[in-house]
Amino acid sequence: MSIKQIIIDRRSVRNFEMRPVSRQTIAELMEAVRLAPSACNKQPWAFYVVERADKLAGLRSAYNREWFATAPTVIVACGCHSESWHRAADGKDHCDIDVAIAIDHLTLLATEMGLGTCWVCNFDTAAVAKALDLPDDVEPIAMIPIGYATDAVKPDKNRKSADFITHFID
Ligand SMILES: Cc1cc2nc3c(=O)[nH]c(=O)nc-3n(C[C@H](O)[C@H](O)[C@H](O)COP(=O)(O)O)c2cc1C
Repeated sequence: MSIKQIIIDRRSVRNFEMRPVSRQTIAELMEAVRLAPSACNKQPWAFYVVERADKLAGLRSAYNREWFATAPTVIVACGCHSESWHRAADGKDHCDIDVAIAIDHLTLLATEMGLGTCWVCNFDTAAVAKALDLPDDVEPIAMIPIGYATDAVKPDKNRKSADFITHFID
């Protein structure tokens, strides 16, 4: 599949089969995550692959949606603010940008491998940190439920047009 087609096909999946995601598959996905670029190559991230029922229950209490509970695995993408690059001129922390790129690698490769994912950010961060016993400077930035979609819906790309968002300065 071309990268262009993968980008077209990726969509948020919010319903998963019970079928587990194998460790081999997770390893392939994490290889793609690992190769993501980051500011100054700091790689200020940590990814928690949550499969255990009691830990998944902890994540579900932090994001209480019926569909989220169908995911057999949730990858919690975290940023380490003490490791990320902060721009000297204004102190801007690039941690979130770095983690977002790594997540994009994950979601795109997952699409190619026939897996569904969904970004989730609207959760109680303190509850996730507690459930996973995260160190103080490690922030859970996004949860990515991952698994095999129950449906085969075509992505509905409701997006601004390229013309609208492109500004040529010529
Ligand atoms: C940073 C970010 C945070 C998001 N948080 C949530 C969320 O908490 N819950 C949810 O159901 N979807 C969440 N989404 C998914 C978006 O709603 C979805 O990507 C968008 O509507 C476009 O749809 P698509 O992913 O199917 O193309 C999030 C997406 C991004 C990029």
